[in-house]
Amino acid sequence: MDALKIKLLSVYSSPRENSLSGYTHKLLVNKYFPNIKADEIFLSKSPISPCSACSFCSKTDQCSIDDIMKEYYKLIMEADVITVSFPLYFSTVPAQLKLFIDRAQLFWEMKKRNEFVKKKTGIIIAAAGNNYNDMFHCAEKTMRHFFKTVNAEYNKEYSVFISSTDDYSSEENKLRADKLIKKTSLD
Ligand SMILES: Cc1cc2nc3c(=O)[nH]c(=O)nc-3n(C[C@H](O)[C@H](O)[C@H](O)COP(=O)(O)O)c2cc1C
Repeated sequence: MDALKIKLLSVYSSPRENSLSGYTHKLLVNKYFPNIKADEIFLSKSPISPCSACSFCSKTDQCSIDDIMKEYYKLIMEADVITVSFPLYFSTVPAQLKLFIDRAQLFWEMKKRNEFVKKKTGIIIAAAGNNYNDMFHCAEKTMRHFFKTVNAEYNKEYSVFISSTDDYSSEENKLRADKLIKKTSLD
């Protein structure tokens, strides 16, 4: 595919104004998709209603809830690459992102009916305050499930996980992120 024609969707989910996951997300996009104008979703600025499990999407390719997800469904469908950043909350994704993911039930139902959406690639950018065993396991599992549902192949090699952010100042964490992104050797 012509690299300039890649449709990139970047989903940011930290509620913090100068978040590390958001900062690292931008670095990653600039590195791997330098000339692409991404569609961006800032979940903390766009309230999404929770899935009501009404089963409407089991019969149609629509959601019964009339909110901004209607726009986002279109962006998800059109994307070739989806990058998703988040801070780790209670060892999983933050609520803002979980609401977005649950509303992807529409795609799960579509898949069940063999109505496949365009194949894509999924990339994660995650930040966490502490450092413990398998700390990203739950979040990664949820993200893998989401990616599979929207027909995105999870690319772990491109994905970035930063732990121990509590141990550093915000400037130090940014330098750590710079180093991490520079180190990834996919170019
Ligand atoms: C509600 C809440 C829950 C958190 N839970 C965890 C956790 O389970 N594990 C962890 O390592 N850090 C946890 N943290 C710390 C954040 O993951 C950490 O500060 C992260 O670097 C923030 O990223 P951001 O700057 O992208 O928002 C939590 C922070 C908050 C506010």
